[in-house]
Amino acid sequence: MIEKHLEGKVALITGAGSPKGMGQAIATRLAEAGADIVVSDIEKGDPDPSHKNFGYEFGAFKGLDAAVSKIEALGRKALAIMADVRKSEDVQALVKSVRKNFGRLDILVNVAGGDWGAALIKDYDESEFIKTFDINMFGTFRMCKYALPYIARKKGTIINMSSMAATRTNLFYSAYAASKAAIISFTESLALEYGAKGVRAFALMPGMIQTEMLDYEARATAGALNLSEDDVKKLYIDNTPLRCLGKPIDVANLVAFLCSDRASFLTGLAISVSGGLNIAYPISEIKF
Ligand SMILES: NC(=O)c1ccc[n+]([C@@H]2O[C@H](COP(=O)([O-])OP(=O)(O)OC[C@H]3O[C@@H](n4cnc5c(N)ncnc54)[C@H](O)[C@@H]3O)[C@@H](O)[C@H]2O)c1
Repeated sequence: MIEKHLEGKVALITGAGSPKGMGQAIATRLAEAGADIVVSDIEKGDPDPSHKNFGYEFGAFKGLDAAVSKIEALGRKALAIMADVRKSEDVQALVKSVRKNFGRLDILVNVAGGDWGAALIKDYDESEFIKTFDINMFGTFRMCKYALPYIARKKGTIINMSSMAATRTNLFYSAYAASKAAIISFTESLALEYGAKGVRAFALMPGMIQTEMLDYEARATAGALNLSEDDVKKLYIDNTPLRCLGKPIDVANLVAFLCSDRASFLTGLAISVSGGLNIAYPISEIKF
């Protein structure tokens, strides 16, 4: 029996378009806990090639239909809004729309993110490196900047998606890891600046979570290293003390807890949700 500890609250989740992704798992988990939900993502088929990540197409806005149906089936209100977190005007319109439709905002979960142009530093395309920051770090900043006035009114909670990569990088990860590390520091500033207003802020550091992004990453790494995708996934699992990949619901359960009153004296934390990857010395097959 799931507690309805978020009844009466409104949550906004970016990057929620993929039915197999963490954003959608978080959206449905918060709905189960009683919140009304706004889900957002970019448009699929956008001609901007920056939506390509490891050859798989981002832009899962159409996947939001499934999210809306799942949330409504749980008896909660749901709304899907298209927004590219790289565009300030999209972000401002998104926040305005939440206010217009729901009149309040209690929870913001910044999930939109990824890794663009992954390469060794000497080969890294400058614009791809910047793009990775533009979505991961600056997108998070934009969302917080425009949502904060409303979240502060409700003494709400902000959760920003960092990664284990923030403290345990790997080859090809320089832009991704640095952008995710920046998110942790930014979240600490957020918690400090807004603590007196009752806003709590967290950065989550997922380890290896079984989503489409992980599949594609494993495929790309396998290609680069002449290994099979299964070999790469086995490495991920062998590196994880609990010897398994995480599931989106593992992350979603943590988000539901952090947004609840049970976590009311916690803020400013970067929390690893990684099956213990944070304490393990990684085994690496990666050489160059
Ligand atoms: N899967 C993992 O193992 C893992 C581990 C650590 C951190 N993360 C992070 O968790 C988050 C979710 O990852 P996931 O694995 O669920 O993958 P996912 O692909 O389902 O989620 C990323 C979402 O971000 C959206 N997005 C991309 N660019 C955007 C933009 N400019 N504006 C708005 N939305 C945009 C994508 O369309 C996609 O729906 C990401 O920030 C990722 O970096 C993932």
